[in-house]
Amino acid sequence: MHLIGLREMDRRQMIGLLDRAEDYLKEDGTVTTPAGRRRELEDTTVGLLFLEASTGTRVSFELAARRLGADTVIVTPQEGERWREESATDACRTLAAMGVDGFIVRHHDRQLPHMLVDRLQVPIINAGNGSGEHPTQGLLDALTLRRHFGLEKDLSGLKVAIMGDVVHSRVARSDAHAFSKLGAEVLLAGPRMLLPSGDRGQRWPGEMSTSRKEAITWADAVVMLPIAQERIHGTIIDPHDYAMDWGVDSSIMERYLDREAVILHPGPVVRGVELSDPVVDNERCLILKQVTNGVAMRQAVLQTYFASASLS
Ligand code: CP
Repeated sequence: MHLIGLREMDRRQMIGLLDRAEDYLKEDGTVTTPAGRRRELEDTTVGLLFLEASTGTRVSFELAARRLGADTVIVTPQEGERWREESATDACRTLAAMGVDGFIVRHHDRQLPHMLVDRLQVPIINAGNGSGEHPTQGLLDALTLRRHFGLEKDLSGLKVAIMGDVVHSRVARSDAHAFSKLGAEVLLAGPRMLLPSGDRGQRWPGEMSTSRKEAITWADAVVMLPIAQERIHGTIIDPHDYAMDWGVDSSIMERYLDREAVILHPGPVVRGVELSDPVVDNERCLILKQVTNGVAMRQAVLQTYFASASLS
């Protein structure tokens, strides 16, 4: 009924969602809603509770919901800023009493989606909880890799480096769980202070590296991460220094990245920091494919979690 993280999801469920997302993609890779599916969520209202900034994820979920015939109500960070964690639960209860059938939730607090699951009887989909997880991003990244490399079922045989500010990244955590459960080898790469360590490190799937060259040379795919400066307390990362040490520009790409290898980024990209302009615009950078696949994946998620909840 709920999608909070990929740590709890098994391989079979993940493959089921990837396969279902394929139903919403045409052969040429564009998003479609087959005629018989345009009313799958008719009479359903999806609450988009985005209490932390988002453009990509919110719009992607909104489009996905509408393409399945659902209504949407949106709560923005400005509207939600007077709610503390407790009252966010009350606000959801109020909206549920008005007929909202479930919630897509983004919030800086890792606990909020868990709290909502405990207190409400409607589907809760986590769209990013602080440095916790971002499960639909993990699934859409897995879908993008599976389609790009023409893989049938899972990601067996692929080597994927997740590089940058790993420890503060919910995308990194969801990607690492998705890729490793789907059979890929995972390498977490970044400056030592931005990699998980100690007990925290042991909960992450994958090996670790503090060498950009090693990670890029090794990988079939590199997922570049933005710096989550809002979650780094006490240290300001200088963007120029970071770009020099950990960014990818054309020269790094040509020297180290295999000719068949690709680059992903969850967006929004800070051009000139994680990736240079020519790299963002290179055809081996799959950002726009990720965005397109994201709508299909969110259609699959809404169909799975909301349609089945309305039947139960
Ligand atoms: N990928 C992602 O979470 O982007 P937004 O922050 O724009 O939603």
